[in-house]
Amino acid sequence: MTARWGNACDIVVFGGTGDLAMRKLLPALYYLHRDRHLHPQTRILALARARHEPEAYRRLVRRHVSQHVASADFSEDSWGSFSARLDYMPLDISQRLEFARLARHLGDSPGRVRVFYLATLPDLFAPTALHLHGAGLVDDQARIVLEKPLGESLATARRVNDQIGSVFDESRVFRIDHFLGKEAVQNLLALRFGNALFEPLWRNGHIDHVQISVLETVGVENRGAYYDQAGAMRDMVQNHLLQLLCLVAMEAPVHFEPEAVRNEKLKILEALRPITGMDVQDQTVRGQYSRGRRAGETLPAYYFEKSVDHDSNTETYVALRAEIDNWRWAGVPFYLRTGKSLAQRKSEIVIQFKSVPHRLFPGTTPEGNRLVIRLQPDESISLSLMAKSPGRGMALQEVELDLHFDEAFKRRRWDAYERLLLDVIEGDATLFMRRDEIEAAWRWVDPIIGGWQEVYRSPKRYAAGSWGPEAADSLLERAGHAWFDERGD
Ligand SMILES: NC(=O)c1ccc[n+]([C@@H]2O[C@H](COP(=O)([O-])OP(=O)(O)OC[C@H]3O[C@@H](n4cnc5c(N)ncnc54)[C@H](OP(=O)(O)O)[C@@H]3O)[C@@H](O)[C@H]2O)c1
Repeated sequence: MTARWGNACDIVVFGGTGDLAMRKLLPALYYLHRDRHLHPQTRILALARARHEPEAYRRLVRRHVSQHVASADFSEDSWGSFSARLDYMPLDISQRLEFARLARHLGDSPGRVRVFYLATLPDLFAPTALHLHGAGLVDDQARIVLEKPLGESLATARRVNDQIGSVFDESRVFRIDHFLGKEAVQNLLALRFGNALFEPLWRNGHIDHVQISVLETVGVENRGAYYDQAGAMRDMVQNHLLQLLCLVAMEAPVHFEPEAVRNEKLKILEALRPITGMDVQDQTVRGQYSRGRRAGETLPAYYFEKSVDHDSNTETYVALRAEIDNWRWAGVPFYLRTGKSLAQRKSEIVIQFKSVPHRLFPGTTPEGNRLVIRLQPDESISLSLMAKSPGRGMALQEVELDLHFDEAFKRRRWDAYERLLLDVIEGDATLFMRRDEIEAAWRWVDPIIGGWQEVYRSPKRYAAGSWGPEAADSLLERAGHAWFDERGD
């Protein structure tokens, strides 16, 4: 295997005992280590309030890493050398003075890259940045990685960005959206800008509409306290779904470099037609799951989930129709939907092309071609084409050209966090969100949330295990469209 050492660096994980660290970050770092992408002198220091000895912490991490990497990929050799990089220190972020201890622990190593990964509640982002600065740990080699959600409105996002920006230059702030680290998402860019085939058709003259779906079968699990404050709009639409929309809709950047890519994404966010006033009711659907069933199992209503208010009006489902006011996309609806406790887990982008302008073959109604970019559960791209049905006559039927990445590329597929962590170490912010993108997304989302609060407070109920509220189907039916689902009745 060819080694690609990143810079020697200190990776400091705040929230090192949390779910994200154990399920995603540490397994990703294990893989980067095993596959020799970490410099031999790179160290990993985890921090949280819990008082573990480093050795006890390593045992804890071992348990999680061995569960979250493929069993064939976990070896004693790799674990032994990985755990030698791994250290733990108890630290309470709210205690400013404890950061002096952190500075002493890290030691004086001028010029060494330091990655501060904030896998903690967002309330702690600004205090962490300020305390790091106070302890002299923010120099021009220091990078900060922020998890979502960044703010809960434009005003709060600005405040956090201002506070972080007062100590970290924007070029060293990495706002992570793990969807952008997925191979299939990057393949969308490869498909669009690495092939001459699609780009001439990638516009309103040829595309009828676009669907972007991120559907989950799980409910809120143990995130009830956070989720009940946030809801699906803030948790999923403001970040993941709008980022996917940007990648589908943006113009080709001049270079595949951070500023060029992010400039193009920003233009799309700024071109989103505001949804305000009565349009909020016409163009958005807000739902909440009630008791239901899937595969013989009874599923609880949202308001009976742990740490959720019994009178909660929080939405666990959003569907909406967005429009982009520019030359390329004028008149093309972008339907977005996301929800929890649904019938099927899938994340996909569907590009529905227009059908042929003239029906040549009597008795057949050719469907428009459809490009489906599937991100979850498997990563694939498929293109539906009309072909002649075998035998007599000229009946047409739809056939699929499928590309399954697992079959096409026999190599292990990187997890999004591996790719993104390595990008941070190397200082490449192309796949991270810039401050103005986050704020433009909030500027579009805020009036919708405001409209919900003013016009109608209660979300529409849908049975857990179903495909979401009926109103989400009507939203498309009104325009002669339908969600692209394989629904069994
Ligand atoms: N989990 C995911 O899959 C996921 C996905 C996307 C984004 N995120 C985001 O990632 C962040 C972390 O999520 P999570 O699910 O990992 O949360 P979590 O399981 O609740 O973990 C929080 C971590 O922060 C530590 N912590 C809390 N207060 C602290 C303090 N005052 N000082 C130092 N450490 C403190 C906790 O340890 P102690 O209690 O011992 O201090 C724990 O290690 C959140 O912003 C979340 O929105 C998570």
